Amino acid sequence: MGKRTAKCKFKFPAVGTHCYNVSMTIAKVRTVSGLRARVKTWRQAGLSVGLVPTMGALHAGHLSLVAGVLKKTGRAVVSIFVNPAQFGGGEDFENYPRNEAEDCKMLEAAGAHLVYLPSAAEMYPEGPGATVRVAGLSEVLCGKFRPGHFEGVATVVTKLLLQCLPDAAIFGEKDFQQLRVIQKLAADLDIPVEILGGATVREADGLAMSSRNAYLTAAQRSTAAALPKTIKTLLNKAQAGEDLRTLEKEGRAGLLLNGFEAVDYLEFREAGDLSLSRKAGKETRLFAAAWIGKTRLIDNMKVE
Ligand code: PAF
Repeated sequence: MGKRTAKCKFKFPAVGTHCYNVSMTIAKVRTVSGLRARVKTWRQAGLSVGLVPTMGALHAGHLSLVAGVLKKTGRAVVSIFVNPAQFGGGEDFENYPRNEAEDCKMLEAAGAHLVYLPSAAEMYPEGPGATVRVAGLSEVLCGKFRPGHFEGVATVVTKLLLQCLPDAAIFGEKDFQQLRVIQKLAADLDIPVEILGGATVREADGLAMSSRNAYLTAAQRSTAAALPKTIKTLLNKAQAGEDLRTLEKEGRAGLLLNGFEAVDYLEFREAGDLSLSRKAGKETRLFAAAWIGKTRLIDNMKVE
């Protein structure tokens, strides 16, 4: 394989690429070859390998994914890469929170074995090139409002899976559409990795944990709790047999009344193919994306 030294064509903010010299024992690698070498030694020792792809700014939700994958595999690799290809123009790529030192401490405490920290030039040595697109699943919900987003996600996740070749990889159900896109790409491209979903971890008031919650002011943070509350109330009404399209309208109006500035979508859809649900069944989930100020929050829950 050629030397990976080409300059990347994406534009990136100046983020640290150096190693932090704090008392830390978790192993860190920054290259594909370094990752593969480490995984090879584990495989030779008969150990199975799990991968937790992240963009850093870690919280308890990410740590639960580490715990989740370690139930299945002997070793856990966590990748931290803020992927420029999945951010649209005007989105928060530049401002996305980055805190490598803190993330590494948290991962060490959580029992992860290796942090993979590729640079953008390592990940995309030639800049944008071959991409992976999952038709259908990528076009609804967030896909309608963030054109190209899931192509960016599918491409980087395919690369991460092929770079690490883990036995299993885990993704949070907070991004349920992303999870389905990744399950489909792994199945359709015959990538021999088990794709696992990890339950959403929530704050005491029900707000789903997200790295983007850090953008919220105190007042916005209290408004944000209306999102999971609305979803729960609507799911209960759906289960009681109320009309789903009427509930969606009621939910959108309720969120706006409660301080959200805009609602991208609030829709009952089926977990498998993300088609619109006609009536609430055991595969039905309610998906929502709504804005508070400049922050876009997403959440989803299933019918209990
Ligand atoms: O969910 C995320 O943090 C990202 O979309 C992922 C899966 C790490 C790909 O960049």
